[in-house]
Amino acid sequence: MEWTVVLISLLIAYLIITFLFHIFFPEHHLDWQSINLDDITFPNEFTWGVATASHQIEGGNSNNWTQFEERENKERSGLACNHWNLWQKDHELLTELGVSSYRFSIEWSRIEPNEGEWNEEAILVYSDMIDSLIAKGIEPMVTLHHFSHPIWFEEKGGFYNQENLIHFKNYCTKIFPYFSDRVTKWCTVNEPDVFSIMGYHMGMFPPGKRSPLKAIRVMKNVMIAHGEVYHELKQLSPNSYIGLAKNVTIFDPYRRWNLLHWLTTFALNYIWNGAIISSLKRGRMYGKSVKHVKGSADFIGLNYYTHVLTSPFLPQTTEIDLPSRKHEIVTEFGYPMYAEGLQRATKWLSKLKLPIEITENGVSDGEDKLRPNHLKRHLWMISKLIKEGVDIRSYYHWSLMDNFEWAEGYSMRFGLYHVDYETQTRTIRDSGKTYQSIIKSQKSG
Ligand code: NOJ
Repeated sequence: MEWTVVLISLLIAYLIITFLFHIFFPEHHLDWQSINLDDITFPNEFTWGVATASHQIEGGNSNNWTQFEERENKERSGLACNHWNLWQKDHELLTELGVSSYRFSIEWSRIEPNEGEWNEEAILVYSDMIDSLIAKGIEPMVTLHHFSHPIWFEEKGGFYNQENLIHFKNYCTKIFPYFSDRVTKWCTVNEPDVFSIMGYHMGMFPPGKRSPLKAIRVMKNVMIAHGEVYHELKQLSPNSYIGLAKNVTIFDPYRRWNLLHWLTTFALNYIWNGAIISSLKRGRMYGKSVKHVKGSADFIGLNYYTHVLTSPFLPQTTEIDLPSRKHEIVTEFGYPMYAEGLQRATKWLSKLKLPIEITENGVSDGEDKLRPNHLKRHLWMISKLIKEGVDIRSYYHWSLMDNFEWAEGYSMRFGLYHVDYETQTRTIRDSGKTYQSIIKSQKSG
């Protein structure tokens, strides 16, 4: 008798809890057919951009990634888009699109190929790139670390060892003064979450480790490095505008009545998103103090791609297709197109009370079947959010052109321009033209 009462009470408690989660954490979906995607308006001062990263486009690099590509016998980045030699031509593509800003990254392994040995020639090439952008009326946004770094740094243990952070700080403070007279917008690091989880838990990025505890330690160290670099650079140039690019993946329970799925969702959300936000807002991360990280951002960069439906049996590699809802369009990468998530991601980032720069958003779509619609849905969402008062200042589409997509190599194509890697020809896609005409009409409207 008593057992029946206990069991019934537990069942009722279970139902109440899942019901409350269901109500308080809704998974929004819009009826896109009934929405006029052309109905968008952006403020005049809105920044229109595209983004790339050094290792994905430059070619001819020698860094932790090239080492990993060889060791794991993965597809080699090789010449990539040969951007190191073709950058002048690529800057013309930016003009063709009509963007007002370009986010790109500096390859630390070119600047400091050996510890303490600085390559002035490479610094000058980046300096010329910056001049070229400014001459075209395009504002540079520079990322200091976008997943790649020198082999010597990796061999010392990279960001896994806190005593190595000084090397990252030295590199940043070395090159910053060369460009800070012309560059105001800086991202210290790109996606600390993806960098550490893919590299140290999923084993798909260098150094290919598979330990959740290591991933957490690296993420914390990357945030500590970010905080230290932020304060150093602000001292050198108080007017610079410095932040980081945070990947916000929305986690939703695969089955909304399953408490285990909810618990996995909350755990993943904290590990991936919550811990980083907490470091910036409260100076605490994974229960430890990271005091100087608190307040160390003038803006928060948002890299937004999708939501992930979670359960305790979530795949531990990205090579397996992720689950999606029946009505959702699944992209080539295997994750669903979910523009609604932008609303949830920005609402959540608003806790930081910082301007939001959308530092990345895009889709892998070799045939360009989805991308025009993908772009329009996301821009529609941003336009709506700005009207509702969310402080979104920019949109950087990922990416200017097809490039080396890390663990997926060249199989994933994210470009507004198609790249023929044999001939290094760039050809604008329909989505590129769509973006071009949206920028044009918004700028003149
Ligand atoms: C985010 C990363 O910053 C970028 O390097 C990558 O190519 C895109 N996501 C697409 O996966």
